[in-house]
Amino acid sequence: MELETQSVIDAEISAIAQATEQAGAGELQPHVDYPPYRSSILRHPTKDLRHTDPETIERWAPCFSHRDVDPLESDLTIGQRGEPVGERIIVTGRVTDGEGRPVRNQLVEIWQANAGGRYVHKRDQHHAALDPNFTGAGRCLTDDEGNYRFVSIKPGPYPWKNHLNAWRPAHIHFSLFGTDFTQRLVTQMYFPGDPLFSRDPIYQAITDPKAREMLVATYDHDLTQPEWATGYRWDIVLTGSNRTYTESEDSDL
Ligand SMILES: [Fe+2]
Repeated sequence: MELETQSVIDAEISAIAQATEQAGAGELQPHVDYPPYRSSILRHPTKDLRHTDPETIERWAPCFSHRDVDPLESDLTIGQRGEPVGERIIVTGRVTDGEGRPVRNQLVEIWQANAGGRYVHKRDQHHAALDPNFTGAGRCLTDDEGNYRFVSIKPGPYPWKNHLNAWRPAHIHFSLFGTDFTQRLVTQMYFPGDPLFSRDPIYQAITDPKAREMLVATYDHDLTQPEWATGYRWDIVLTGSNRTYTESEDSDL
């Protein structure tokens, strides 16, 4: 099947954006059936999500201690034979619940492409070099104030086969476990000023412009370290983690 051009996708994206604007507020969450993102048409769930009993699921809540996660795992530029290629970056931020309280001791995992836009994955056949000094995976625990911090390499944009000449804006995948299994959040962090934002159906699948912008990190010159790395700040709010039943295990409410 012949792939459609970027202009076809652009037109679909702007038609949906216009319709959303006319209808009022956009959606905060990505549309799971967002036609410009072609594979979402067949892949999105068509039935109601399976409900779980929150009390039952909480009996097996994930728990991570500082013994499970080595602090060195938050630095993606070390642990190999040499230094990876690319722009060294510091990415940090605060994880809070819907009321601004720090979410402490939570597992934050990231994965990303290398500076050339290539993942260490057999299905990634992008014609860009693999970097023997970069695996693109890291993790850390949030501290008492809810802060996480990674040292990494700025990922490159990469092509994908959604349409002809489709490129993803540079991004880092994030996973947060929250405080029980039903709260796991998986999302992507983007870099400010990326020219691919308007053309990317994954980014645009969130139809509320403010919600989209919340996925974009801020460049922070105070975080930047001389002769070493540029700094980006990105805060994460786990809405819903302050649900009543998580506050008291024996609550019947
Ligand atoms: Fe990706």
